[in-house]
Amino acid sequence: MRPRFKAWAKPYLDEHPEVSFSIEQLNGLPTYYLEIGAGKGNFLCNMALKFPDKLFVGIERNVTCSGITTKKIVEKAISNAKLIYADADVLLPNLNDNSVDALFLNFSDPWPKKRHHKHRLTSEKYLAQYFRILKKGGRVYFKTDNVDLFDFSLELAALSQFNVVSIDRHYNGLDPFDEMTEYEQSFREQGLPIYRLILEKL
Ligand SMILES: C[S@@+](CC[C@H](N)C(=O)[O-])C[C@H]1O[C@@H](n2cnc3c(N)ncnc32)[C@H](O)[C@@H]1O
Repeated sequence: MRPRFKAWAKPYLDEHPEVSFSIEQLNGLPTYYLEIGAGKGNFLCNMALKFPDKLFVGIERNVTCSGITTKKIVEKAISNAKLIYADADVLLPNLNDNSVDALFLNFSDPWPKKRHHKHRLTSEKYLAQYFRILKKGGRVYFKTDNVDLFDFSLELAALSQFNVVSIDRHYNGLDPFDEMTEYEQSFREQGLPIYRLILEKL
């Protein structure tokens, strides 16, 4: 499902700096919603179109995915969606405390080997960063098809400072404050279960 490398992607990103933000610009925003691992951008674009008064910012470290998402934002002329081509590991520590309204993790890489669990986007160090950057009342919305990653995330959420708002092992519908991702569309078409966890910073 990961796209083949596209040579046009990096030049395209360079030609469209208006779709991106610097860390300083991000930290100057009074309100925004952050997606980590935006993939090919369907969730980001559709959320921005559905909620035109909110600003959605995606982070994506794969250059081809970043190019594809940026192209969608440009071609649909979506002014309230931005895509930052960066690794969350580099970006997150530079974000201000109490600054993000909500955070979305959609079908994050499962990293199945135990020695790689530290790379999971719901591992301890990431949850600590999310707690720091979210505003009071801010939520983490996490969706996955991977039950092992889901159970791991539940365990770590219970040890974190977050309040667990909901655990859904049969996320069959789609909440009003949600949109389908590329991976999700494929999993749903195959009839695979979708798991969803919502955490809140009280
Ligand atoms: C399995 S794909 C899911 C893509 C999309 N969210 C979806 O549901 O269709 C995971 C995506 O997260 C990105 N990713 C993983 N770790 C990341 C990180 N530390 N920073 C930024 N992007 C990351 C990957 O490059 C990949 O595009």
